[in-house]
Order: sequence, then C-alpha cells, then structure tokens
Amino acid sequence: MYSAITTSIENAILLITINRPDKMNALNKTVLDELNTAIDEVYNNQAIRSAIITGAGAKAFVAGADISEFQGLKHSEGMDLAHKGQYIFKKIEDAPKPIVAAVNGFALGGGCELAMACHFRIASDNARFGQPEVNLGLIPGYGGTQRLTQLIGKGRAIEFLITGNMIDATMALQYGLVNYVVPQEELLNKTKAILELVNTKAPLAVGRCIKAANAVFDHTRDGFTEEVKLFGECFATHDMVEGTTAFLEKRKPVFQGK
Ligand code: COA
Repeated sequence: MYSAITTSIENAILLITINRPDKMNALNKTVLDELNTAIDEVYNNQAIRSAIITGAGAKAFVAGADISEFQGLKHSEGMDLAHKGQYIFKKIEDAPKPIVAAVNGFALGGGCELAMACHFRIASDNARFGQPEVNLGLIPGYGGTQRLTQLIGKGRAIEFLITGNMIDATMALQYGLVNYVVPQEELLNKTKAILELVNTKAPLAVGRCIKAANAVFDHTRDGFTEEVKLFGECFATHDMVEGTTAFLEKRKPVFQGK
C-alpha cells in the first residue's frame, strides 16, 4: 500500500518507518502524503492505541525535506509546501493518541521538525539534531521555529537556527529536546516499553492529557480553562468510573476507551 514508508501494528502500537535509507529518509512529496495517511490511521483505527515514528537504516531518522524538490519553486509554491508540512505535523501534534519519535540517527531540518511535532522523543546515541536551513538560504517551514523555541527556549533555539549547527544526543538530552538517550539497538524496545505502559491507561484520559498540554502553546485557548473542561469530561466516561472503582476495590482496572 505504501512505497516510501512502512507500517506495522504490534501490541496496539503502530510503527511508522520512513523508508528511503539511500536518501537519508528525506521527506519528499510521497513520504509526506503517505505519512499523512498513516497519521489518519492512528486517529481512526480502533486497534491502534499509540504510534512510533522512526527512520529506516542505522544512519538517519530523517535528514530533512527533500532538497531536490525545492529547485525551481516560486514564492507561492514555497508557501504551499510549508502549509502542507505544517498541516501534517500539526495533525501529529494534535493526535488523541501518543505519537513518539524514535530518533535513530540524523534528525535535520524537516526531520528535526517531524521529531518535535511528536509528543516526545527518544534518541539513539548516534542521533544528531539540527536545523541547517540557513545553509540553503532557507528557514524551517514545518513548524520548526515555533516548536524548537517551545521545547528548548528562545536563546538556545535562535542559536540553533542561525548557526545551523548540529547537536549530539547528549546535548539534546541536556536541552530537554529528547527524554532519553539509549544505544541504537535498544531504541525501539525502549520506546515500545513506554508505550506499552501508556496503552494500559485509560485511553480517553491519555488523549485529554495531550490536548491539555498542547493548550499551553495555543494562543486561542486558555490552558487552565481547557484543563477544567477536559477534567470535567472525564467524569462522563465509563473508564473514570472503572478506574476509581477498581482502585477502591483493590483490583486492576479494565479500560475500554469509553
Ligand atoms: N534531501 C535530498 N537528498 C538528501 C538529503 C535531503 N535533505 N539528505 C541526504 N540526501 C541524499 C544525498 O544527496 C545522497 O544522495 P546520493 O547518494 O544520490 O548522492 C544520500 O542522501 C546520502 O547522503 P550523503 O550526503 O552522501 O551522506 P553523508 O553521510 O555524507 O551526510 C548528511 C549525511 C545528513 C549530513 C547530509 O546528507 C546532509 O547534510 N543532508 C542535508 C541536510 C539538510 O540540509 N537538511 C535540511 C533540508 S531543508
């Protein structure tokens, strides 16, 4: 079904692998379109509780947008490209189920932006992060200037953006850009272990945690008001009744996502 990504479901986790290792998994039009479809599947397929995005091969997560598709683009076409990338990456950020980046190598340009659109990031020890667009006479266009500033703070973000320098996994951990750094061979297992734990929790509550946290950065919403609304909504769910009853009855809850 896909030609530039692969997907598989195991233990209710959708593993999405960007699959152009000979081109450092660069995001061309096909990858973006297929990624968009795979994210729709995360939203709509009841058998999926969470997802991982990673890159094929041992060298790159994603080394950016496909630079070969940039040549000859005009002003308005550049804007169209940014709108498209921003639309898909926002869909990842707003997903009601956790989507985690397992960063297995270079995460540059659109690759760093893709990782930042995920709910959190786990890196292998060979991972390198960077927004090298200034080397090409460009700036990030898939939300990178905004999410980088949100995640690591303005001073670090501006240095990162205007030097185009790469940072290694250890510094990414120090910056709070990633949650863990692990040996490459343990990357997927570590990511899956966290999501397997999350998958035992009440699904609607998990989705509402993501939505409430995202509200911090949405200037059209007041995060505290959003939290009250989402907290209240939990009281109307079967899972909340089950979770509180199970606690009081000293047994494990059985969540149904209702
Ligand atoms: N777009 C298109 N092709 C890319 C690419 C990208 N963003 N990143 C890598 N590739 C291609 C290379 O052109 C090369 O293709 P070829 O074998 O047909 O010549 C192949 O992937 C391997 O890359 P190469 O540069 O030979 O590997 P390397 O190990 O020497 O360097 C990188 C790896 C990631 C440091 C280097 O490829 C790079 O700097 N990529 C561009 C990063 C970038 O500027 N991203 C932002 C884009 S907006």
